[in-house]
Amino acid sequence: MTSINQFCLWLEQTALSETIRSIAWFVPAVQTVHILAIATVIGAVLMLSLRLLALVGHPTRPPVGGRPPPCRGRYMEPAAPVESPAIFLRRAGLRRLIASSLAACWLSATAPIALAQEDAIPPAKDTIFARKIVMGTIDMNMDEVETMLTPGGKLDQTEAREHLDIISVLLMAFPHMFPAATNQWKPGVDRDAALDTFAAPELWASFGDFYKRATAASKVAFDASRAKTVGELKPLVAELRTACNACHASYLKAQ
Ligand code: HEC
Repeated sequence: MTSINQFCLWLEQTALSETIRSIAWFVPAVQTVHILAIATVIGAVLMLSLRLLALVGHPTRPPVGGRPPPCRGRYMEPAAPVESPAIFLRRAGLRRLIASSLAACWLSATAPIALAQEDAIPPAKDTIFARKIVMGTIDMNMDEVETMLTPGGKLDQTEAREHLDIISVLLMAFPHMFPAATNQWKPGVDRDAALDTFAAPELWASFGDFYKRATAASKVAFDASRAKTVGELKPLVAELRTACNACHASYLKAQ
């Protein structure tokens, strides 16, 4: 992992970042101040540019068709000195009005975008709940198949195939349910087994490996769902169980 990645991960875990993430109005507020600052700077640049292009304010050049500047011998009369920005800004009552209107337009256009961006991310607790249900469903389907394969069990090939197909699809979707804000496991904290995450922080640090394991397990489940004989099916189901356990050993906290 590159050091910039490490730095970002560290930054993401700091108390300040966690506080910012947990307060709903914080990001929109920061975005608003940010945009206001951009509008102020760009507005000021725009005012100066318009002034220097002589598109606003009093022209410093003679009007087109007007009298050319008077000649004194070989020398042209020096052009009127360009006003210093400080003096210009002091006199710029009208321009200030234009700039603040522009800034207001800008703000009213961009603030809702900032808020909409915030709304576009579902709450972390909903995502955690959804992925736990996905895993719980994988577990139920796996149980069904393993029960069929126990010595006293009754194997129904069609049903086994359906269960394994479901496991395969869910394992494909599962790794897409780990946005950074759902990295919430901490040692020594009381957790609600039904609602809180048990996903280890290492999962985000080695996401590439986690993703590969999920994809590989999904593929094994798919192959098992296509097995034609019990002889083919059994070792593939065992391989799938090994993949469950191996991933849990790295990325699932026991409590
Ligand atoms: C690629 C990694 C990976 C694979 C493969 C995987 N799991 Fe999981 N599993 C996880 C993670 C991560 C969690 C914790 C999710 C959370 O709490 O946010 C989890 C949680 C669980 C849970 C607890 C669910 C709950 O309600 O909290 C069960 C049960 C489970 N897995 C069963 C299985 C079974 C059965 C398989 C194999 C068919 C499997 N898992 C394959 C990563 C994996």
